[in-house]
Amino acid sequence: MSLSTEICAPLAVLGHDVQVPLASGEKVGYAALDYAASAPALQRVWDDVAAYAPYYGSVHRGAGYLSQLSTDLFEQSRRTVADFLDLRDGDQVVFTRATTDSLNLLASAVPAGTRVFAFETEHHASLLPWAHAGLEVDYLRAPRSRAEAVAALDAALAAAPEGPKLLCVTGASNVTGELWPVAELTATAHRHGARVVLDAAQLAPHHRVSVRELGVDWIAFSGHKLYAPFGAGVLAGRSDWLDAAEPYLAGGGATRTVAREADGSVAVQWHTGPARHEAGSPNVIGAYAIASACRALTEAGFDALEARERLLVERLTAGLAEIPQVKVLSLFGPDSARVGVLSFVVQGWNSSHFSAALSAEYGIGVRDGLFCAHPLVRTLLGDEEVAPSECGAPEPSLPGERSLNAIRVSFGAGTPDEHVERFLTAVRELVTDGAAWNYRNEGGRCVPTVEVDRSRREG
Ligand SMILES: Cc1ncc(COP(=O)(O)O)c(C=O)c1O
Repeated sequence: MSLSTEICAPLAVLGHDVQVPLASGEKVGYAALDYAASAPALQRVWDDVAAYAPYYGSVHRGAGYLSQLSTDLFEQSRRTVADFLDLRDGDQVVFTRATTDSLNLLASAVPAGTRVFAFETEHHASLLPWAHAGLEVDYLRAPRSRAEAVAALDAALAAAPEGPKLLCVTGASNVTGELWPVAELTATAHRHGARVVLDAAQLAPHHRVSVRELGVDWIAFSGHKLYAPFGAGVLAGRSDWLDAAEPYLAGGGATRTVAREADGSVAVQWHTGPARHEAGSPNVIGAYAIASACRALTEAGFDALEARERLLVERLTAGLAEIPQVKVLSLFGPDSARVGVLSFVVQGWNSSHFSAALSAEYGIGVRDGLFCAHPLVRTLLGDEEVAPSECGAPEPSLPGERSLNAIRVSFGAGTPDEHVERFLTAVRELVTDGAAWNYRNEGGRCVPTVEVDRSRREG
């Protein structure tokens, strides 16, 4: 193996030594296996933010030394993100709150009359902003292979009326972890004159992403999934639509001049460039934290990070394949490449119950529910037995009852092998022996009540 693909040790993250109580009262080290929701902060990010914190000052508006320094760091963070994403000349980086905010910003900037194309498999953040902004949307059916995805887009675009078009597509599914053929979809879209925005919320933390090579027009991701949980995100890409659009928010920082007119009105000249859509005091710590994470991941090397993650994914999928009651959810088939995100259901178990037992009996944190991708999970599960609540567990159902929700396990650069091994052991034991505790639904959460009396059960 060449040096560049040598497998690295897990990167240092906060919380790796946190002890959590089990239902039994014992304490164990927490196994954070919910990176797809929010990844732990990289130690490096935390240290960088702590080192900067005393120098924190207002951005773009202060004459003092710390304001100047903070402004420089904020703008430098923009350049670091541009390098991390391998942007083209003329592309811009807008700091937002997260991916949801980035995609809503873009939806507000899309020229009127644009037709948007999105697969029904998208996360709600990439599925919903377009219609919400009053745009026409073609929702494409869930494809069952990458080639089918490209063919479906090709056909939909060929049949679409003349006019501006936009495809929104995810790089890696937040449900199955499967990689989407972004470069092929982009080439197809461009051939039909459509633009592309890439939802890289689940891709950027796991893979090197080059906007230049993929050819996408915009990209969005969240700091809190990229080991930088300080409330910032990114929308980056082409300037033309963004500069021509009304500012996302009206307020200070987005304006060049504001003047009272003789007729009593107020005339505004808005900035072009990132400032146009960043009204209000920017989140300098959030932006700085994202830049720090970009540097840390680049220095660790995506070849090494990906090689390590691939081994963990292989171990996980092989381990789960040995448990016949486990059904892994997949759109593109069992051998499709995925990042460290995988959802599954367990025969005879309610997923909320199973996830609660992983936490209460093994100290493992996963997520259960429909993962803000309801149409996709419904398609993958194939029926609708229990009404789900928004983004979470289904309405109360009894342990053992089948439910319309799944369990998601996800990991990344900070995950030690032991967490994946403990997870596999826990799944195997729960499936074989059942939960060691009884559970009841309290306010939508499944909580342990009393320990199962195994002697009575066996007798
Ligand atoms: C693929 C995908 N897109 C968008 C989002 C929304 O990200 P955020 O909640 O950070 O805005 C998520 C969050 O889980 C996601 O997984």
